Amino acid sequence: MPATRPDHPTEALAAFVEEGSVLALTGAGISTDSGIPDYRGDGRRLRHTPMTYQEFVSSEHARRRYWARSHVGWRRIACAQPNVSHHCLAALEEAGSVIGVITQNVDGLHTAAGSRRVLELHGNLARTVCLGCGDVRSRLELQHRLEAANPWFGDWQVTYAPDGDASIPDEVVDGFEVVDCLECGGVLKPDVVFFGENVPKDRVDAAFRMLGEAKRLLVLGSSLTVMSGYRFVVAARKAGIPVAIVNRGPTRGDADAAVRIDGGLAETLEPLARRLAAAPA
Ligand SMILES: NC(=O)c1ccc[n+]([C@@H]2O[C@H](COP(=O)([O-])OP(=O)(O)OC[C@H]3O[C@@H](n4cnc5c(N)ncnc54)[C@H](O)[C@@H]3O)[C@@H](O)[C@H]2O)c1
Ligand SMILES: [Zn+2]
Repeated sequence: MPATRPDHPTEALAAFVEEGSVLALTGAGISTDSGIPDYRGDGRRLRHTPMTYQEFVSSEHARRRYWARSHVGWRRIACAQPNVSHHCLAALEEAGSVIGVITQNVDGLHTAAGSRRVLELHGNLARTVCLGCGDVRSRLELQHRLEAANPWFGDWQVTYAPDGDASIPDEVVDGFEVVDCLECGGVLKPDVVFFGENVPKDRVDAAFRMLGEAKRLLVLGSSLTVMSGYRFVVAARKAGIPVAIVNRGPTRGDADAAVRIDGGLAETLEPLARRLAAAPA
């Protein structure tokens, strides 16, 4: 371990990760290179208002709108492949520097890249859950049922939005038929945490246990605007756990970061992983 921290941020990050016991906290920015849009890229304000949990559970129209848009938008998530940053993180775990990943993403790309210890804080779009009986099923199964119920549904000119959402014409939404739980006829919801919904307590507890095992926290591709992610930076600060942040544009954790790189993830992580993953144990 160097006696003084290197001045150059890239060197400082390499030293930070090399010291080991690093917990990664990732956000939408790590998946933009896989073609999945984020919410607040380039320092923009929220450019699209996501549906809240309250709207989803209280309004049949809101659910029709959600599933019609998701019917189109989910295809892009389902086809997305992990990018170099997901692979670098998996390599750093394999090399023993990273102990695990807490992700705010719902796209499943960390696991697809080979990361073994992944806590999906906000769930995963690849599953559905019944709000009546709790039955959990694959989203692919629902996709087939939605296709069968809406054979007229075509490939619209769409704009893809975050979280497997896409904008489609209103008249298409109105004619869309939603399907219910096969077990109890209840309302189906994607198995993800909506805005306005709490992360299940046991999941939060498991995430804090991971932080308790870590000696360093590395934030990758998150504006930290959402409290459920930012709270780990707050907790790290309180526990004296140093924080490094790699993100293009400002984040809410910048004042707490011992190392801060304002730049692209692929460009930053690739040389780092090549160097550390190739280094002898
Ligand atoms: N892929 C997904 O699963 C996905 C996508 C969008 C939103 N979400 C959800 O929305 C919420 C949004 O919060 P968030 O903080 O994760 O996202 P965010 O959109 O608030 O922040 C993403 C940050 O990443 C930066 N960024 C984008 N591409 C980058 C790159 N290649 N290199 C470096 N930085 C890059 C952006 O400038 C932005 O500051 C989360 O709760 C998450 O569940 C998930
Ligand atoms: Zn049910």
